[in-house]
Amino acid sequence: MPSSTIDHVAITMDGNGRWATHRGLERVEGHKKGAEKAKEIIRGAIDLGISTLTLYCFSTENWKRPQEEVDFIMELIPKHIEEEQEFYNRRGIRIQWIGKRDQLAPHVKASMLRVEKSTQNNTNLTLFLAINYGGHDEIIRAFKRIPWYKRLRKESITEDLLAHYLDTTGRPNPDILIRTGGDIRLSNFLLWQSAYSELFFTKTLWPDFTIEELTTMIQQMNQRDRRFGGLSQ
Ligand code: FPP
Repeated sequence: MPSSTIDHVAITMDGNGRWATHRGLERVEGHKKGAEKAKEIIRGAIDLGISTLTLYCFSTENWKRPQEEVDFIMELIPKHIEEEQEFYNRRGIRIQWIGKRDQLAPHVKASMLRVEKSTQNNTNLTLFLAINYGGHDEIIRAFKRIPWYKRLRKESITEDLLAHYLDTTGRPNPDILIRTGGDIRLSNFLLWQSAYSELFFTKTLWPDFTIEELTTMIQQMNQRDRRFGGLSQ
């Protein structure tokens, strides 16, 4: 079901750890499966006509996890990127890293910068990978990026100005924000951009999420009355 009414889908991929422990596996096996699932959903997103997909891979708060798990995810991300670079280019996917760049290990950063460069002219799908991302941090960084921000007159500080300096600049705000894994909260994800997103929470653990479930959400969203603060037509 191609859907021209959906530009941007954003997903918090939660539930990897539980998926693994339910099977008697180490939590990190869930992250491995989660990365495979991400590829399947990315492929499906193109078929659904989605132009921007954002995946929450690692938050600014995820550093609080056991070091072993953090290390695993920080190896998994560049491994996935290196292995799938050819896939991304073949499918016309442009990768952009959103998040705080100055805290990651040099090899992770190098891998992300390489894939951003090699996919920069692709136009089928913009894939925002949120790595060391936090909505509060993004807004603070945006403010700091505004040239001469300390000297701005109050009237010049507008929503458009700030949005221009966010990591997601130039792309539409999410139409749908999905969280798998059963929790009903945003967890610092796209706080500015999600002001009028339709929210979907599912108990499905991320490795079990399917294109069919995503398609159903899109169908439901198309039936919702999006008023953006106004009145129904
Ligand atoms: C949340 O599940 C998941 C994460 C913090 C890691 C997500 C990362 C990936 C799936 C790797 C994707 C990589 C790319 C580049 C696409 P959780 O551990 O909080 O699960 P739980 O709630 O069951 O404990």
